[in-house]
Amino acid sequence: MKILVTGGAGFIGSAVIRNLMLNTQHEVVNVDCLTYAGNLSTLAAVSNNERYAFEQVDIREADDIQDVFLRHQPDAVMHLAAESHVDRSIDGPGAFVQTNVVGTYNMLEASRRHWLSLSDRKETFRFLHVSTDEVYGSLGSDGYFTEETPYDPSSPYSASKAASDHLTRAWQRTFGLPVLITNCSNNYGPFQFPEKLIPLTIMNALAGKPLPIYGKGENVRDWLFVDDHVRALVAVLERGRIGQTYNVGGNSERQNIEVVQTICRLMDELSPHDQHRPHEKLMTFVQDRPGHDQRYAIDATKLKRELGWVPAESFKSGIQKTVQWYLDNQAWCRQAVADRYAGERLGLKV
Ligand code: DAU
Repeated sequence: MKILVTGGAGFIGSAVIRNLMLNTQHEVVNVDCLTYAGNLSTLAAVSNNERYAFEQVDIREADDIQDVFLRHQPDAVMHLAAESHVDRSIDGPGAFVQTNVVGTYNMLEASRRHWLSLSDRKETFRFLHVSTDEVYGSLGSDGYFTEETPYDPSSPYSASKAASDHLTRAWQRTFGLPVLITNCSNNYGPFQFPEKLIPLTIMNALAGKPLPIYGKGENVRDWLFVDDHVRALVAVLERGRIGQTYNVGGNSERQNIEVVQTICRLMDELSPHDQHRPHEKLMTFVQDRPGHDQRYAIDATKLKRELGWVPAESFKSGIQKTVQWYLDNQAWCRQAVADRYAGERLGLKV
């Protein structure tokens, strides 16, 4: 089938496309407007494949999106394009509303028009909306997010993703568009833009810069290795039940401080001659994030029960692979952030 993937030059989107190119026979149309976080070099291994096409198009532009559907006639959509960084949504929420809410609306409308025009392929068309566990708000010290957890977003980012989830469900209930929704926990792995906790910590540690830990570092995230997430997305697209939501989590809860300590120890081991050892001495407690959610943890039982998905990677194995990848790919990291992000603290402009 031909799959239109939005946000395919981003971290998770590019991992989806590499997987589809290397492990399936599906065709891919990558729709990405190449914001600061978009990077086509993440697709260098697959972009010459004849099953791959790229369209530099912004999902905020309804007519351009419509045109992509007319020209490519996809069998399915995987919608990953989004502004994703919570701290940036505090400094500038407008882009999050435009891309995540209006952009998703444009995708749903273009998909609906396209779906209505299909004849023999109408039955099998699907729209997978990729979202986040942050729509559920914050957990206390126990409990898990299930697919039934009420929405309670805290940040402009998570509120915009919640809105996009609601739009997606409404397009199914009102117009019959065959949609699926996934809500994932914190992804990590190769090619993540170095603004998120894990790659930022690795990059700063390599440069001997302070490793900022918000508040007391006691906030908990459930870490999901990106390739595990990708397997879940492909399984949901191919075999999920229309209209359903599936939570995707790594079953790997860690306090932020533990994550940073683990990275420091791995870097001490993997770079024994690094002048900045022991890297833990670079850890620095800084002002907390406004509206900082305390804990996220996913109950992924439904995905396991219905589609047989479980994460293959433990945090121990995943973080080791990730640190090693960043050590081996420092040129990629430098190129990814060049003229775009100098590692400064974001999210304090309240
Ligand atoms: O849960 C899924 C979400 O995970 C995704 O929907 C978001 O797109 C993604 O950005 C991520 O959100 P977080 O806010 O949890 O990720 P971030 O890497 O920004 O922060 C992870 C935790 O680490 C969070 O508790 C804040 C903290 N943190 C973050 C940074 C960048 C620090 O302590 N220091 C830092 O420098």
